[in-house]
Amino acid sequence: MLTMDMISALRQTYGAAAEAAQAARYRRALDAFKERYGPGQVCVFHAPGRVNLIGEHTDYNHGFVLPMALDKDVLLLARPRDDGAVRLSNIEEGYGDRRFDIAQDIPRASLGDWANYAQGPAQLLEQEYGPGLSGFDGLVDGAPPFGVPRGAGLSSSSALTVATAVALVALNDIDLAGPELADACGRAEWYVGTRGGIMDQFISILARRDHALFLDCRPRADGGANAYDYRHVSIGAGGYAVLVVDSGVRHHNTGPLFNRRVAEGRIGVRLLQRHQPEASITHLRDVQVVPWAELEPLLPEVIHRDELLRLGIDPDTILDGPAGPTSATPDTDRFYVRRRCRHVHSENRRVLASVEALEAGDMAAFGRLLAQAHASARDDYEISTPEIEALVDLANGVPGTVGARLTGAGWGGCIVAVVAQEQVAAFAQAVTRGYRQRTGLTATVFPCQSAAGAGLVYRSDMG
Ligand code: GLA
Repeated sequence: MLTMDMISALRQTYGAAAEAAQAARYRRALDAFKERYGPGQVCVFHAPGRVNLIGEHTDYNHGFVLPMALDKDVLLLARPRDDGAVRLSNIEEGYGDRRFDIAQDIPRASLGDWANYAQGPAQLLEQEYGPGLSGFDGLVDGAPPFGVPRGAGLSSSSALTVATAVALVALNDIDLAGPELADACGRAEWYVGTRGGIMDQFISILARRDHALFLDCRPRADGGANAYDYRHVSIGAGGYAVLVVDSGVRHHNTGPLFNRRVAEGRIGVRLLQRHQPEASITHLRDVQVVPWAELEPLLPEVIHRDELLRLGIDPDTILDGPAGPTSATPDTDRFYVRRRCRHVHSENRRVLASVEALEAGDMAAFGRLLAQAHASARDDYEISTPEIEALVDLANGVPGTVGARLTGAGWGGCIVAVVAQEQVAAFAQAVTRGYRQRTGLTATVFPCQSAAGAGLVYRSDMG
């Protein structure tokens, strides 16, 4: 039975228009949980995925980002246990069941296994808030059409990490929320072997309906609970829609490619340190105010492993962080330092300019920044694909498109487009039709209607 409490929780989380459909989805999930684990109390946590409007691959360089949460999310239904075991099943067939014991050192499941996204936060929380955290019996629901599309660059995996963290924090009464929790989730995800930043976890936790999140990914020097600067930026006023177009192309095992990009930024930092030992440069952010023309000659277009080793820079350990060694090395001999750093440097400026444009209601200026960001991601960061290029090109050809760019880590996935409200239907038709003609593939267009941030949505007593 869904109570009035539940209806109002759903309205708060997803908005009135989605309430009935979400109620049916929650009911199905609660029934599946009961069938799997029997009657009794259950808590339903949710964590949304995201689309990044602008600020790609800047977060792990302590730069700026502007993501927006989706109303597509991951649900985690959980019932606390008396011991430290976590049992997980998935509402979708084919995922199988998982079980692990919470510990300070949880043996990793095989690379890419979905259990790792739950094991990461469990291990980190046990290390920092244990010992002796209690586990839970859980059911994950990320099924379409309400779930975050997987492997599409919309942060489905971070949503599972965040949902698990939020559940463990609530069920164990841990005093951890907001930016501090998001920061912990960011570190927790390194467990899977990819050295990502904090953007996905922050937006999933701090999301506000109809707002993007402008986040400065550099921790504030004064530390404390609010150790990051951020603010919500209103989106949706002025008759424009934020549309996501999924290319349907999934690139698996992009971890090594991703880590290579992270390594290239860090190598850039190490090379700049050699030129300016007196300046304390720890991240590319530290040279953000220096004009690019001054930095460029200090950074080689490409540098080889041997040369790096001669300079005392070991690419195999450069990804190791405060949390220890990473499991995935960059796995390459050639590092394209100059163009990667140029992307990060210019992208940070575009994020700042975008926030200004949005707050001034200047959509044309925002659109131009989106186009520049796309070109930079394609040419300097080299993370686009032919299918994504086709989508951006088609999107730009529709009257009413303000701007379009690839979104997320890259190598497939989605584009984001800002489109005049009255052109949304025409956009969807033109882009899906053109994409099929050009590639033979099916694109899916959906609006980004942001849901509320991650947390407990509902606690139910099932007889
Ligand atoms: C992935 C990472 C993020 C961010 C983006 C690229 O989603 O998890 O931290 O680096 O790629 O902007």
